[in-house]
Amino acid sequence: MKVLVIGDIVGRAGRRAVRELLPNIKQEEEIDFIIANGENAAGGFGLTEKVAQELYDYGVDVLTMGNHTWDNKEIFNFIDDDQRLIRPYNYPPGTPGRGYGIYKLESGGTIAVINLLGRIFLDGVDCPFRSLEELLDEIEADLILVDFHAEATSEKVGLGRYFDGQVAAVFGTHTHVQTADERVLTSGTAYITDLGLTGGIESILGMKEEDVLKKMVTKLPQRFSAATGDTQLCGAIIELDLKNKLANSITRIRREHYN
Ligand SMILES: [Fe+2]
Ligand SMILES: [Fe+2]
Repeated sequence: MKVLVIGDIVGRAGRRAVRELLPNIKQEEEIDFIIANGENAAGGFGLTEKVAQELYDYGVDVLTMGNHTWDNKEIFNFIDDDQRLIRPYNYPPGTPGRGYGIYKLESGGTIAVINLLGRIFLDGVDCPFRSLEELLDEIEADLILVDFHAEATSEKVGLGRYFDGQVAAVFGTHTHVQTADERVLTSGTAYITDLGLTGGIESILGMKEEDVLKKMVTKLPQRFSAATGDTQLCGAIIELDLKNKLANSITRIRREHYN
């Protein structure tokens, strides 16, 4: 069975990439389940109920989040009710929403989706290693997939290798730059350090180039807005084995859509 995982969707251009490119990928590759990172889907910052629904309508089954989870305050209105929306698991106890979800697959069996936040160059959260270890003792699913939302490549590689053989896949999000290191690790876990950006091609990490450069060059405060125009979808297709609960293959994908 095949799962498509999609890197951080940034703003309207990112959503357009999903709308225009997802139907073909889904059909050609015979995708059974789709997970996408939605932390930047509403104008580059956070998520609204309307935007989440739009992405579900395009075929996304589960949305994961990250350090931008709370950027749009609207999320507090629906995060507790939306069973398909997963925020980082290693936030403090009592945080709204859920850090993982277990879903029934149409083909039979169950899939768990877990979101974790890294601790290097990001706000301090509970240890992602210990958090996942404890969670794995509690939950049961045929396939367990982890979106590790982190900045440092070393932390991501470390987590992937630490849980090799214990989960079916660990894929990284957050940097908005796709890495070329996808592989099935020695004990059977599919791994990629970062899925990359789903959003405007002519941009800096999905945001308007002029906004970001102005801040970088002048050091003056500057509002960022999501880039528009030609767009791309980045992610990976992971082939999973329901019997041994591990991965057979992982293939990186990057598709463009021109206006
Ligand atoms: Fe992001
Ligand atoms: Fe992020």
